Amino acid sequence: MSETPYVFEGSRHDAELERLRALEGVFDSATRKRLLATGLGLGWRCLEVGAGAGSIAKWMGDTVGETGHVLAVDMNPRFLSAIESANLGVQEADIRTARIEPESFDLAHARFVLIHVPDGTEALAAMIRCLKPGGWLVLEEPDFSCSRALAGRPELCCAFRNVHQAIEAMFRQRGMDYAFGARLPALLQDRAFEAMLIENDAAIVPGDSPHAKMMGLSTYQLRDKYVATGLATEEDIERYGTFAADPTCWATYHATISAVGRKPMKGGRV
Ligand SMILES: C[S@@+](CC[C@H](N)C(=O)[O-])C[C@H]1O[C@@H](n2cnc3c(N)ncnc32)[C@H](O)[C@@H]1O
Repeated sequence: MSETPYVFEGSRHDAELERLRALEGVFDSATRKRLLATGLGLGWRCLEVGAGAGSIAKWMGDTVGETGHVLAVDMNPRFLSAIESANLGVQEADIRTARIEPESFDLAHARFVLIHVPDGTEALAAMIRCLKPGGWLVLEEPDFSCSRALAGRPELCCAFRNVHQAIEAMFRQRGMDYAFGARLPALLQDRAFEAMLIENDAAIVPGDSPHAKMMGLSTYQLRDKYVATGLATEEDIERYGTFAADPTCWATYHATISAVGRKPMKGGRV
């Protein structure tokens, strides 16, 4: 198992919480719709992998009620202890080695997690093992290969492009794929998942929008790693921040590709 540390490991507590809360603000409503479309309801047992600041784990706990259960697994569960929920359990673990009863969950969900695991398919296999036959897998992962600056001063657009080249290089140097989301259809199809629904949301947003601000926060946190690739300078990082805060600068920062499907019943390929 590769031991490359999570890229935001070591981020300041308050800065990371602000970034994760911003991320939840942008993506939670689409995630909740996707989860509800599986039929998620009272009594379900759910696994939330890489729960982050925990808004989806908490919401799933409310949705499955007291007859259901949610297990949140995160290798750094520092923000999860503050959540008060009787039916939410927290396990501090890497999903690849977490001790979880096989075939014990009705639904397993991960958002923006597998892209950060050097061997994302190993993490995926661990999630699938935890699912009951017929259980639902809901994955949402970014694809940075479609990032594009669409409007803004030329020097700011240039900085945007440099930073996104640095993002690609940083993932590659860490043995990860900056377009991991684009692999989801094949990954589920190869495992004979059923009732598959794939969506690709590549929002075009202006600077100062919640999505742009969230990307600005990520970039400031990872600035040293981006500069270390040699493809973006400190000035590019500052200009990227200006781009992300300026309402006249429009961009697609990344796509979010979601894949929803059911684990095959016994005897099916996984
Ligand atoms: C980008 S955050 C996303 C948080 C949350 N899923 C969300 O979308 O709001 C990634 C989270 O996954 C966790 N994580 C990264 N690699 C992991 C692994 N191998 N096993 C379990 N958790 C992991 C990190 O600690 C972090 O909390």
